Amino acid sequence: MVTFFLLVLLFILLLLLLNPFPAMCQIGREGEWCLLYASIGISAMHMQLLHNKKVVMFDKTDFGPSNVSLAYGRCRYDPSDNVLKNDCTAHSLLYDIGTNTFRPLLVETDTWCSSGAVLPDGMLVQTGGYNDGDHVVRTLAPCNDDSCDWVEFPGYLSERRWYATNQRLPDGRIIIIGGRRQFNYEFYPRKSESSPSFWLEFLRETRDDDENNLYPFVHLLPDGNLFIFANTSYISRLQAKPCC
Ligand SMILES: *[C@@H]1O[C@H](CO)[C@@H](O)[C@H](O)[C@H]1NC(C)=O
Ligand SMILES: *[C@@H]1O[C@H](CO)[C@@H](O)[C@H](O)[C@H]1NC(C)=O
Repeated sequence: MVTFFLLVLLFILLLLLLNPFPAMCQIGREGEWCLLYASIGISAMHMQLLHNKKVVMFDKTDFGPSNVSLAYGRCRYDPSDNVLKNDCTAHSLLYDIGTNTFRPLLVETDTWCSSGAVLPDGMLVQTGGYNDGDHVVRTLAPCNDDSCDWVEFPGYLSERRWYATNQRLPDGRIIIIGGRRQFNYEFYPRKSESSPSFWLEFLRETRDDDENNLYPFVHLLPDGNLFIFANTSYISRLQAKPCC
C-alpha cells in the first residue's frame, strides 16, 4: 500500500516536472488568465488556431526589426519594405499550445490588415495586406514537426485586398470580399490565371468618408447564402456579376 502511494506521488512529481507551463498555469485551473510568456518577440496582430492545436501569429512586416531572429540565419531581403530592406528577424511564429513553445516563421510580404480562412484540410489561406502584400496569397499547412512555413503566391489575387473579409464556402472554396476601395469579390482557388473578380454594389453603398466599413461582416447562412453587413445595411444574397 505504501509503495502504491509512493508510486503515485512519484508520478505526480514527474508530471509537475514535465509540465511545460509555469507554476501559476496548471492545467485544470479554468477561468483564470495566466501569463505564459512576458514577451514572444513579435506582436500578434493576426492570430489563427490551426487544427493541430498550434496557433500561428503574425504582424505587419515593415515596422523594422522584431525581437525574435529568424531560424538558420535566414534573412528577408525586400526592396519594397518601407523601413528595413534586409531584415533577419521574424514577423510570424507558430505557437504550440501543448508544449508552450514557439518557433519563428518567415513571411516575405506585408500582411498588415490582410484576411484569411482555414480550408477543410486545415491549411490556412491568408490573402492580401499592404504594399508588396496586397495581391499575395499565402498558405500555411500545419505540421507536427518543424517543417512547415509560409508559402507565398505573389500576384495571385486579381485585386488588391487590404481589409477584405474571407469566408469558407460549402464547396471548400474561399470567397474574398471587398477591401479598401474594392467593391468586388473573388475566390480562392481561382479558376484560371485571368480569373476576374465580381462587382458588388452593396460595398460601395456602405462606404463612408472615414472608411470605417472596411472588413465587411460576412456569415454563411444554413441555406448557403451569404449574409453581409456593414454599418446599418446588409444583404443576404449574392448576385455574381462580372467585374470591371
Ligand atoms: C521588443 O523589445 C523592446 C524592448 O524590450 C520593446 O519595447 C518592444 O515592444 C518589443 N517589440 C516586440 C514586437 O515585442
Ligand atoms: C453609418 O451609417 C450612418 C447612417 O447612414 C452614417 O451617417 C454614418 O456615416 C455611417 N458610418 C459610420 C462609421 O457610422
